[in-house]
Amino acid sequence: MIIAVDGPAASGKGTIARALSRHYSLPHLDTGLLYRAVAAAVLKDEFDPANETDAVSACSFDDYTLDDPWLKSEEVGKAASIVSAHPLVRAALLLRQKKFAHQAGGAVLDGRDIGTVIAPDADVKLYVKATPMIRAQRRHMELRKQGILTSLDKVLNDIRARDERDAKRANSPMVPADDAAMLDTSFLSIDAAVQRAVALVEARMAAKASAAAD
Ligand code: C5P
Repeated sequence: MIIAVDGPAASGKGTIARALSRHYSLPHLDTGLLYRAVAAAVLKDEFDPANETDAVSACSFDDYTLDDPWLKSEEVGKAASIVSAHPLVRAALLLRQKKFAHQAGGAVLDGRDIGTVIAPDADVKLYVKATPMIRAQRRHMELRKQGILTSLDKVLNDIRARDERDAKRANSPMVPADDAAMLDTSFLSIDAAVQRAVALVEARMAAKASAAAD
């Protein structure tokens, strides 16, 4: 079973994807980390994330770089949303993601274009969303826990700018697949959101089984 989980930053898609991976014992890929690895390499080399040639030259990173905690920083996240708009960067990372999705036994992937580009044939597609303010509050709290003091306004502006870049790019924009089930986590606890996600997966799989039986 392939489960595609898409949605904007801080919507809860990563937490939900990890929980689904545990629940169904499926391997999980956080595809945002791939774009973050490219961005981190670009920043380390003091290249320009907006320059496609610079960004493409950073696409052949080693797997161990995905464990670098710096990848999770706001600085790298912002640069990731810039490098990810380059068609050649997306092309360079495409096969790796498609292979992961289509491995024997299935997989859970989360990102922005899993249900639309990486695995349009996924058995289940979820699009996880939450209001920009609630996502900003979540991110603000996470940053405070890490000892990073910044204003809620700044975090909200950064989230809006990232949404805009991700949704408006010409290549593989962040958009729900036509057949995605929508999951709004704005007013759900983590446990409730995960339960809802499992219920949506079960409902999709049951509908598929009954369609196949007809
Ligand atoms: O999900 P995360 O915040 O780690 O993603 C970082 C950036 O990588 C996103 O803002 C987006 O621009 C890009 N991304 C993407 N396609 C994906 C996953 C992430 O364009 N499948």
